[in-house]
Amino acid sequence: MEGCRDVTCMFVNAHFSPYGSNESRRGSGLYSSLRVGQMSQGIVGITLDELCVGAVCKHPVEDRRGLLLLGANASITADVIRNLREREIAELRIDARDVETICVEDAAPVALTRESDRKKRIAKATPVKDLLVDCHAEGLSETRSLELETVKMLAKAHFEVLREQLSDNVVLTTDGFVEVANNYARSMIEDHDQTIGEVGAAVASCDVDDRSIRMAVLGMAVATEMGLTGQQILELGLTALLHDIGFNLMGPALRKPVELMNEEELWEYRKHPIVSVSCVAEVPQISEGIQIAMEQVHEQFDGSGYPRGVKSHRIHNYARILNVVDSYLQLIFPTNERRGIIPHDALGLLLHQAGRGLFDPRVIKAFLHMESLYPLGSIVELASGEMARVIRRPRTGFADPVLQSTEGQRIDLGLGEATVVRPVCDPEVDQIRLSPQVLETVLWHPSHPKMKVG
Ligand SMILES: [Fe+2]
Repeated sequence: MEGCRDVTCMFVNAHFSPYGSNESRRGSGLYSSLRVGQMSQGIVGITLDELCVGAVCKHPVEDRRGLLLLGANASITADVIRNLREREIAELRIDARDVETICVEDAAPVALTRESDRKKRIAKATPVKDLLVDCHAEGLSETRSLELETVKMLAKAHFEVLREQLSDNVVLTTDGFVEVANNYARSMIEDHDQTIGEVGAAVASCDVDDRSIRMAVLGMAVATEMGLTGQQILELGLTALLHDIGFNLMGPALRKPVELMNEEELWEYRKHPIVSVSCVAEVPQISEGIQIAMEQVHEQFDGSGYPRGVKSHRIHNYARILNVVDSYLQLIFPTNERRGIIPHDALGLLLHQAGRGLFDPRVIKAFLHMESLYPLGSIVELASGEMARVIRRPRTGFADPVLQSTEGQRIDLGLGEATVVRPVCDPEVDQIRLSPQVLETVLWHPSHPKMKVG
């Protein structure tokens, strides 16, 4: 995995743009003010942070004194940018014809157009997988933990604002949620494993907002593994964040665990994706594709889901991804009625049910790659009897992650530094393990979550 720690090339979604077409943006004062300055006709000055990893410059790139930095047809890679940064080159001269291809797009959600935020946007058309920074050798960062906590608080605040708008029956904008998705995507690019390990792991309790946030982050990670671009990743994140907002307009009887609902309540409950879409149908930034995906998050690959029972590739790609993530979260989080299942066994259960056709096999495969056999953030017992938390995916394969012991010591199973005996329950979460017999015989369905063994 090659990455760009310094240049977080960013994403732009035309749906979210307040400016319309590229032409109208190019002519705007905003665009002009964001450039370092016109050097001469046909030559544009840009900052190093504006270069987009993965692009190819068709014409030479020079420094501000005219010294050649990159020849024609050079690829912009993370190494190239790192090298330029090490040479303390902050400003570049590029041919104006290369602006469209090698610069970060300017169109952006309203909330992201501030100069301070520009360098944090994701490249529009680049697969996010190509941008991931390799942090395998690094420990966990306290700063990143704090940043992730801040993004969560921001998301919670936006959910509150949304509820206020819903109480007045007017949702005018969802820009704040784009900003949330973008912040999580950026964190994932800078350190995939820590972001997933901290946001995607099980916790003792989780409300609807929390769950939507976790679903967005895990969903964006699976989509990254599947090669989706920055634009698609953000659309998927937005879909996840908004897919359950319809509950805010539904009665309190529908907020209890589905295990306790009677048939009539279940019938009403299964309309919630349609209600969610109706909440944002008038918001111009929410494309038809996002609306379709929001409505289809609970559709199953074999047609056994709701609200319409569509199947296979008639289900939007984002919805197929989020359906797997939603099912996983359903399993690992405890409710008032049942205990959570440890992530390793939840993954096993998903794989088992995938064999029955419930999920898109491509998504299941990507999910397994994204989490590996011992999911990020989960706990294992070592042969020494010591407990340790999974902090990094294996460098190769699925079975040998990097762990952190309770004393903070790093243990790389890929280097043979220890042996895992078994996955164990997180002492801070009400969890159980599933026996191999149950895993092999249980029938479980996300829409009918009571387990039937045998
Ligand atoms: Fe839902």
